[in-house]
Amino acid sequence: MTIDQKIQELNRQRDELLLGGGQERIDRQHGAGSLTARERVNTLLDQDSFQESGLFARHRCSLFGMAGKKMPGDGVVTGAGSIDGRLVHLASQDFTVGGGSVGEVHSEKIVQMMQTSLKTGSPFILINDSGGARIQEGIDSLSGYGKVFYNNVMLSGVVPQISLICGPCAGGAAYSPALTDFIIQTRTARMFITGPSVIKAVTGEEVSAEELGGPAAQMNISGVVHFVAEDDLDAIAICRRLLSFLPSNNMEDPPLLEAEEVILPDKRLNEIVPVDPKQSYDVREVIARIVDRGDFMEVQDMFAPNIVIGLGRLQGRSVGIVANQPSVMAGVLDINASDKAARFIRFCNAFNIPLVTLVDVPGFMPGVEQEYGGIIRHGAKMLFAYSAATVPKITVVMRKAYGGAYLAMCCKDLDADRVISWPTAEIAVMGAEGAVDVIFRNEIKKAEDAVSRRQELIAEYRDTFSTPYVSASRLHVDDIIEPADTRRYLAMALDILHSKREFRPQKKHGLIPL
Ligand code: HXC
Repeated sequence: MTIDQKIQELNRQRDELLLGGGQERIDRQHGAGSLTARERVNTLLDQDSFQESGLFARHRCSLFGMAGKKMPGDGVVTGAGSIDGRLVHLASQDFTVGGGSVGEVHSEKIVQMMQTSLKTGSPFILINDSGGARIQEGIDSLSGYGKVFYNNVMLSGVVPQISLICGPCAGGAAYSPALTDFIIQTRTARMFITGPSVIKAVTGEEVSAEELGGPAAQMNISGVVHFVAEDDLDAIAICRRLLSFLPSNNMEDPPLLEAEEVILPDKRLNEIVPVDPKQSYDVREVIARIVDRGDFMEVQDMFAPNIVIGLGRLQGRSVGIVANQPSVMAGVLDINASDKAARFIRFCNAFNIPLVTLVDVPGFMPGVEQEYGGIIRHGAKMLFAYSAATVPKITVVMRKAYGGAYLAMCCKDLDADRVISWPTAEIAVMGAEGAVDVIFRNEIKKAEDAVSRRQELIAEYRDTFSTPYVSASRLHVDDIIEPADTRRYLAMALDILHSKREFRPQKKHGLIPL
């Protein structure tokens, strides 16, 4: 062969491989409203930035009709590229090739990308669309999954890992996304460990695939998913936006955007939180007024909505926000809220993202169900995560901060770098009503007019303890500020704390309550 003929042959093979499972299957994918694996990659990455690896990879299986079976790229597109000019590595499963099933070579391609992510300090993204372990390859395919899981753990806390679920993601396959930092699921995608037919056979329960593993189930009920996307394009847009808040690895700071020259007081902040502790409001309005341009990327918005978590920026610097949500169950901390917040706090800490905590919390959720569910160990995760976090930690007490929940929302004693409060703050062991009923029970009983005596005592207790002044006098609170000045205060404090360095005792790892 001449060199020209060799090049022609190369191009012929390349063109064939680039078609994946062929036009008919591509059309089927489009017909279902989905992009192909390759289209997802090209849409996610900056234009013309994709450099592919492993296009010519071939499976080695000869069992169950696999001998000689063509599986372009072994069912996964892998390589490197950039998002907003920053390097990422990724793998995108190709459902048109053997249903995107995972064989030995398929998983080896994914693992190679993960390891290159680690070496280059770049985020890793896996776009899932797969029938799971390639049944014909048996244990080799399981072993491949095992290697992906192992590498997910090696990458954890070193580079951000994001999973997009754009098709089926069933069986043990769902554990790779679960080991990553964020899961974005499209409306038509399904995730579960065992599907409806197995569930029916084992437990007799009847459930549809959507009810079991659709995004409503995996976000609202299980809390497995972090973002629900309308379709592939939306999932890609969410992934790009999410990465814009994150550093490429744990040795870097998040990208710094431009800051405003002057921050003016925002008088609307003086009005959002009602002074009456029984009245609710939407804390997301407070957050929107604190972060740059109101740009707040809420995480898990439909799971445990009694706490709000998400990413924003203050004077161009990424911050993680954790806020009680008084409009849902009065913002109480329960099992799910604690799990949700604790995991997010640990993510922010791992990736050098300062934490801003907005407090308006009546306490931990009472109840037999919560106790039996382990509110003690789940709630303890908040204490653990905040105490272990060494990034700048700034807490704003807006209104209620009672009891253990006050501590769990990053008080000074958990090493918050700043705790400030608004004049509306009530920092106390418990609400004034509850406190008076315990300590003045006999006095109220004996009073001529028990009702008005109780009200008097409540007012006295509230005036004495349920204000920020006692806390400030004892240095539990660094300053009491007008709400309108919050954004300016936080921006200055973040600037001051930017060079914070904190060293902890050497150990293998602590034991977060699970
Ligand atoms: C090999 C597979 C496959 C698999 C799908 N295909 N899943 N090949 N191993 N796991 C192939 C099909 O044979 C078919 O090939 C092509 O992919 C497209 O699949 P269809 O069934 O035609 O597509 P659809 O109707 O859309 O259904 C998609 C599906 C279904 C729901 C994912 O294929 C399915 O149920 N697959 C099996 C799922 C499963 O049980 N996987 C193993 C799970 S155990 P042809 O050539 O006919 O087009 C597991 C353990 C992991 O994953 C453990 C890790 C620790």
